[in-house]
Amino acid sequence: MLKTVKINKKYFKNLDLSKISSPSYVIDTKVINDNLKIFHKLKTDTNVKILLALKAFSLKSLLPIISNVLDGVCASGLNEAKLGKKYFGGLISTYSPAFRDSEFDDIIKCSQHVTFNSISQINKYKKLCVNKNIDVGIRINPLYSEVEVSKYNSSNLNSRLGVHINQLNKIDFSDIKGIHFHSLCEQNFDALENTWNKIWPYLKNVVKNLEWINLGGGHHITRSDYKLSKLTNFLLELKAKTNCQIILEPGEAVVFESGILVGEILDYIQGDNNKIPNIGITDISPVCHMPDVIEAPYRPMLMNEPLKGKRVVLGGPSCLAGDIIGEYYFLKNPKIGDKVVFLDQAHYTLVKTNFFNGINHPEIVLWNSDNNDFKIIKSFDFKDFETRN
Ligand SMILES: Cc1ncc(COP(=O)(O)O)c(C=O)c1O
Repeated sequence: MLKTVKINKKYFKNLDLSKISSPSYVIDTKVINDNLKIFHKLKTDTNVKILLALKAFSLKSLLPIISNVLDGVCASGLNEAKLGKKYFGGLISTYSPAFRDSEFDDIIKCSQHVTFNSISQINKYKKLCVNKNIDVGIRINPLYSEVEVSKYNSSNLNSRLGVHINQLNKIDFSDIKGIHFHSLCEQNFDALENTWNKIWPYLKNVVKNLEWINLGGGHHITRSDYKLSKLTNFLLELKAKTNCQIILEPGEAVVFESGILVGEILDYIQGDNNKIPNIGITDISPVCHMPDVIEAPYRPMLMNEPLKGKRVVLGGPSCLAGDIIGEYYFLKNPKIGDKVVFLDQAHYTLVKTNFFNGINHPEIVLWNSDNNDFKIIKSFDFKDFETRN
């Protein structure tokens, strides 16, 4: 969710930008297939179940490709559970910080695992699940995290997410089939191992009651420096030690590096090089089209940015003073109509777009870099803005 990691610049080099209208998200299906090969091998080597976290990426036309390899989805609530059931199938695992009565019957119609955030939610809904043969899980807070940004640290003492690991003795495990924790964010293997070592003393006496352990998301498995063989060994040992089905639910790693956002310069305002910056107004609004730029916050990588040159502040077309993508180097003054391309824009972007100022969503284009096939899968117009409320 943070999107702070260095990404590989080799992708999208061969994309003919003149074929792409602006603004557009372009998703390279070959990159997704390459990522899925890594997950396929991990599954074959370890028997782990891997679920796509729909909160990160839920483009329904790509769900069939992903469901060929992954085992199901992790849903954050009713709508994602319904989407998962309809377009993905397999194991639908639904977790929410709190469920509501009016939706719960439908939640259990769509899910095979329901994970609760608190003892009171378990007590309230457990019977309904057990009666329908739905596995009940409990989210625990490991009270250990290596995530430095507090907004993305779900495992501190004040977190509202999960039962504190040192409170497990207060839980009646008789109808509970699984435990779940999610405490990583864009992390390599060591953070998972360190977390597990902290919680194992508490879980030792509990695992005999359990059938599955869900290690959440945040595993950056498809990143080139990820310690995959260490994860493989760890998953094998975990399975042997606990006798439980181990589950991972990555979002970001499934579509890592597979998407870009293409925009264009609508206006260029020359600064004075010292006090007033050069400004490029683009048709990409970070507020509307890349909300994590503002929320995380982070500076997305610009394709082909030189190491030195003219410094230009790129911003969006909305009224918000802070609708700024970031400051970038250009070899020469950008011209009106020039394309700008921001890298790694598949996860936590399409799921977060909004119509602030009535600004249209970018078109969504699938591209296969193997055979150069293009397909526009969605264009937006006034009707989409009009019908949203
Ligand atoms: C409970 C849970 N599972 C899975 C994920 C997916 O994490 P990521 O996309 O970082 O892999 C998240 C992300 O916030 C989460 O909260």
